[in-house]
Amino acid sequence: MSLISANKAEWSDTIAAMHVLHVVGARPNFLKAAPVIRALSKWPVQQTLIHTGQHYDPALSGIFFAQLNMPDPDVNLEVGSGSHAWQTAEVMRRFEPVLLERKPDIVVVYGDVNSTVAAALVCAKLNIRLAHVEAGLRSFDRTMPEEINRIVTDQLTDVLFTPSEDADINLQHEGIPKERIFRVGNVMIDSLVRLLPAAMQCARNGLPERYALVTLHRPSNVDDSASLRRILTSLLEVNDALEVIFPAHPRTRQRIEQFGIDTGKLHLMEPLPYIEFLSLQSHATVLITDSGGIQEETTYLGVPCLTLRSNTERPVTVTLGTNVLIGQDLGRLSSELEIILDGKAKKGSIPPLWDGNSGKRIAEILHA
Ligand code: UD1
Repeated sequence: MSLISANKAEWSDTIAAMHVLHVVGARPNFLKAAPVIRALSKWPVQQTLIHTGQHYDPALSGIFFAQLNMPDPDVNLEVGSGSHAWQTAEVMRRFEPVLLERKPDIVVVYGDVNSTVAAALVCAKLNIRLAHVEAGLRSFDRTMPEEINRIVTDQLTDVLFTPSEDADINLQHEGIPKERIFRVGNVMIDSLVRLLPAAMQCARNGLPERYALVTLHRPSNVDDSASLRRILTSLLEVNDALEVIFPAHPRTRQRIEQFGIDTGKLHLMEPLPYIEFLSLQSHATVLITDSGGIQEETTYLGVPCLTLRSNTERPVTVTLGTNVLIGQDLGRLSSELEIILDGKAKKGSIPPLWDGNSGKRIAEILHA
């Protein structure tokens, strides 16, 4: 395959419409699929969208579809929540008959969630061509469920779309032939670039001039009572210096209630829609997070990011961007915060190909 620049009208006359089937399941998938679907819609391509139902709350799913202007899913597998084995198996069980019925030429999966690996396994067993958007990212931490999903998905994938050079190198180390790897840049940044103007229009009534925006949902941080308590205590200390705004993932809120943790003066709120969250991100003094996507978005926006993890599958956000890994040492959180409040935050730059055109590159390669 190669990048093509052929006249699209000529193409549509000569080539039967290719059928691309996209599988999405969780919040970050939607942000990655939307630009690819939009770019492919400019080509003579039949597209089918399958939602596994891994995320089902309107705040984590429906509102994202609306803001990203995505078509409604053709099928919702309505899998819902469960253990990793249960959720993965249930996506596989429900996806297989859909795939057999729809017979696409290629399936596109996104990111590293359970729905991604489940769909990849089904395609591999049915010998259906598979493309993976955001291939090659590695944290080298196999205690992280997403790392298992990444490794397995990439091994099963025919066409691997990577966001950065480190991802290409990781894939080659794992024996993936170069010809199957296409560095297209960061497709999630396409969504950011498109919706940033709308985010800038959001009213900022009642928002403090300076604030820390917090998100937290990794099992390693929130599923263990001692760890969650430690982090929330540190955030309460941060709140003394800088107001904390904390849109809490349902998983995190459930754990706070289950462990009976008093969040004191922390400003907890429901998960926010994408545009509203992007607005808060772009005006924040600092992000404190364990999310992968937010490490990338802050790098693009040039906003300081303190990541409550010891490793990252997105090292370019540390080497080029504004990201600092805090690890388990919460003392480091206050010292890094001080640096930022002193106006000495790390200045980053935007990684190559994070330019809002990754979806177009993917569409051209898929269609070639
Ligand atoms: C999943 C992904 C993670 C991604 C995150 C983005 C995996 C292994 N993890 O984590 O990589 O960063 O999505 O948000 O796929 N829940 C609701 N409503 C929903 C969905 C979930 O309340 O719509 C609650 C349920 O109690 C569920 C819990 O959140 O058990 C966790 O949901 P799940 O999809 O298993 O994982 P996330 O933590 O969301």
